Amino acid sequence: MSRQGAYSPLPPWPRTDYCGALRAKDAGREVGLWGWVAARRDHGGLIFVDLRDREGVVQVVFNPAHGAQAHGVARQVRAEFFLAVAGTVVGRSAQTVNRELATGEVEVMGAKAQVLNESLAPPFALDDEEGASEELRLRMRFLDLRRPRMLQNLRRRHLAVRAARAHLDAEGFVEVETPILWRATPEGARDYLVPSRVNPGKFYALPQSPQLLKQLLMVAGLDRYYQIARCFRDEDLRANRQPEFSQVDIEMTCPRPEEVMAVGEGMIAAMFAQAAGITVERPFARLSFEEAMERYGSDKPDLRFGLELCRLNEAFAETAFRVFAAALARGESIYGLRLEGAHRIVRRDLDDLVQAVRALAPAGAGAYRPDLAWVKVEQAAWHGPIANHLGPAERSRLCQAAALVPGDTLLLTAGPRQKAREVLGEVRVRLAQKLGLDRAATPRFVWVTDFPLMFYSEEERRLVSYHHPFTAAHPDDLPKLERAPLEVRALSYDLVVNGQEVGGGSVRIHDPTLQLKVLELLGIPQERAREKFGFLLEALSYGAPPHGGIAFGVDRIVMLLCGSESLRDVIAFPKTQRAVDLMSGAPSAVDSEQLKDLSIRIVP
Ligand code: AMO
Repeated sequence: MSRQGAYSPLPPWPRTDYCGALRAKDAGREVGLWGWVAARRDHGGLIFVDLRDREGVVQVVFNPAHGAQAHGVARQVRAEFFLAVAGTVVGRSAQTVNRELATGEVEVMGAKAQVLNESLAPPFALDDEEGASEELRLRMRFLDLRRPRMLQNLRRRHLAVRAARAHLDAEGFVEVETPILWRATPEGARDYLVPSRVNPGKFYALPQSPQLLKQLLMVAGLDRYYQIARCFRDEDLRANRQPEFSQVDIEMTCPRPEEVMAVGEGMIAAMFAQAAGITVERPFARLSFEEAMERYGSDKPDLRFGLELCRLNEAFAETAFRVFAAALARGESIYGLRLEGAHRIVRRDLDDLVQAVRALAPAGAGAYRPDLAWVKVEQAAWHGPIANHLGPAERSRLCQAAALVPGDTLLLTAGPRQKAREVLGEVRVRLAQKLGLDRAATPRFVWVTDFPLMFYSEEERRLVSYHHPFTAAHPDDLPKLERAPLEVRALSYDLVVNGQEVGGGSVRIHDPTLQLKVLELLGIPQERAREKFGFLLEALSYGAPPHGGIAFGVDRIVMLLCGSESLRDVIAFPKTQRAVDLMSGAPSAVDSEQLKDLSIRIVP
């Protein structure tokens, strides 16, 4: 075989350059390189090897006349062998310059070569073609990551985090590490638990976020804290959710929401600029929760396209259409979405949308069943399942209220106000996907503010925090806290990009009595609150300053700035939808001795 003698863990000569970094100015230099064989072309006498490292690929030429030993090695190498080469950089003639390669103006004349390790034939091509199944890529992640696009994503992630750190550092924030072995913080997901060997029957919980710890750091007097914090949440996974993920976690003393948002905007702009060369427009747009719901039917509105909703209660006030009349009589709302004639949509698409809406039936929503109606507006006649129910006066009112012109299609839904808006918000997103309106790559940032402090969960049959139980109420709404908790707005803000939440935060409750009251409203009686959050309540009792902050999802931001659609593209070793690491096989069974040590018995 090409390798001589035993494997040595040391390189035979120093590396002077990265393969992918060589340029025309290097012509004439003697270089030492190492890298993987990306391709090999044997032209009888001459052998060409594309040698790849993290910076790119350079062509190495092996000519028997210039080095018989090196040529002998080159004859035997295969894809992904790891090779050390020494040779001379030469400029290529005008005819042989390769414009596709950053190094294409030069090549290296190989004088010496040594195989540092051989490779089995890789099970999928490592050039940037897709092709391999994701399962195989995840199982052989070490090879998958060799692909230039994946390496670039990881490097962009590094640049983005570096930019965030530098920005926060310049703004006077101090990075503090908080524990991973801790106790549960309610962020709305299930906890990952870790048994304690020395405290049998007791468990740590991995942090869902460092929320309470960062609040304690404000009580301690850090004034401005941040952390690139690993968080763990056992929840249903999707393309934009991983069981463990990273946040840029921030907390400040006595901030106004605007100040937290300003720090966040500066940091995000730096991350996009330095990691991807993208200039983001500032200041970011702002919408209150109410406005976002009313216009876009979502608290995560995608502003890359219009398709705004309109409330049509008045236009339908005298309707003869029984379904809508009954909804109005119940005090419900009718919302419409106008689709311009310029957007072509066929009957089948509309039927699919209707089916999709009917399948949305929310859990525990009582008698409410979402449905979708539509009419196509033409000069001569209106078409569609409900067109016959609409009289001339009503048609003219609708045209006015929804700014309809011939050619347009109006999509309609009736239901409890919030539900009807959510349904049409979902229709809006699906329509945009269908019409390709969501493909604009430019990030459209928007702050959504003034969320409700709480909502009523039909599933849990109790009040639940919209964010978390430590969020402060809007001071104007505080008097309503006990009387009408559902009407209380929070001092909260989420950052949304292209329809995805990438950050969320709030001003916090810093008064222990108020904190107890809020926990009580959320169904946690005082005694239990003291048991679970005693340390927080105690800390708030010792001159805790007002404080607030935010956390941004690092993985989601990097995914956006890399133009990727999945978090798995920007996390080195991600997990599958079933929270499994296909490469290592985690989670795995453990032996009975270990379980015994932990006082744990598996119940089959
Ligand atoms: P929140 O729960 O909104 O806030 O989380 C902040 C941000 O973290 C990201 N994120 C996730 N990313 C990947 N996978 C997940 N499973 C996942 N879950 C959340 C999102 C989200 O916007 N303690 C509060 C922050 C605060 O109030 O300061 C918190 O954790 O981008």
